[in-house]
Amino acid sequence: MSTVYADLRSFTEIKEIVNDVYDRFDRLDVLINNAGVYRSERIITQEGLEETFAVNYVTPFLLTNLLLDLLKKGKSARIVNVASRVHSNRFDLDDLQMENGYTGVKAYAKSKTALILFTYLLADKLKNTNISVNCLHPGVINTKLLRSAFGSHGALLIDGAKTLIFAAIAPEIENISGKYFVNNRSQPSKTITYNKDIQKILWKKTEELIKKEFTEL
Ligand SMILES: NC(=O)c1ccc[n+]([C@@H]2O[C@H](COP(=O)([O-])OP(=O)(O)OC[C@H]3O[C@@H](n4cnc5c(N)ncnc54)[C@H](OP(=O)(O)O)[C@@H]3O)[C@@H](O)[C@H]2O)c1
Repeated sequence: MSTVYADLRSFTEIKEIVNDVYDRFDRLDVLINNAGVYRSERIITQEGLEETFAVNYVTPFLLTNLLLDLLKKGKSARIVNVASRVHSNRFDLDDLQMENGYTGVKAYAKSKTALILFTYLLADKLKNTNISVNCLHPGVINTKLLRSAFGSHGALLIDGAKTLIFAAIAPEIENISGKYFVNNRSQPSKTITYNKDIQKILWKKTEELIKKEFTEL
């Protein structure tokens, strides 16, 4: 086993682990973007981003784009984005950082909506490559994040892992990309997440947010 650690709010640390992974491996088969936070108060990271948006969406966007060359070397590589059924059918492209009307739930839902929008556009961009990208809702699972947001309830951790494992390795979805899975089944996400214009504008705005740090993107 080989492990790299990073504070995924930090662009510097993200760069360091990406370099480390490139040094240690010559291909990558699966990337699961699982880390996530719920913040009842609006917190700004050192990079100047609202933390929920940063960890739940910008980090997966960055990590994925920076690791694409390694994923392209895999035989049949998969990207799995852990989203949530707590996503929204509204998406204000002019207030990505939730400067107005912040609540923990709205920020969380916005970050997961962004992650799904990203998943679908990336799937289009990766069509005809060896890489698939899907997203999922893992279920309502009794974890630190759920307890901090909605109180202690939900299923066991082992149940939460099931859809992640399915999306990461199930042979029957090897060639399936651009889907949202719940309980190992493809389901529709909120209508807005399929909006190509919003997907493209979000992508561009995300690149602008991070371009000072990542000129290679
Ligand atoms: N639980 C649910 O019912 C539920 C439902 C839908 C979606 N999800 C999603 O499932 C994913 C996993 O969450 P979970 O429920 O398993 O909660 P969790 O137990 O709190 O796990 C979240 C993980 O993210 C890591 N993390 C947070 N901020 C980080 C940072 N800045 N740098 C590095 N790692 C960081 C945490 O690390 P530390 O432990 O070190 O803080 C923790 O390992 C999240 O994306 C969440 O949104 C969960």
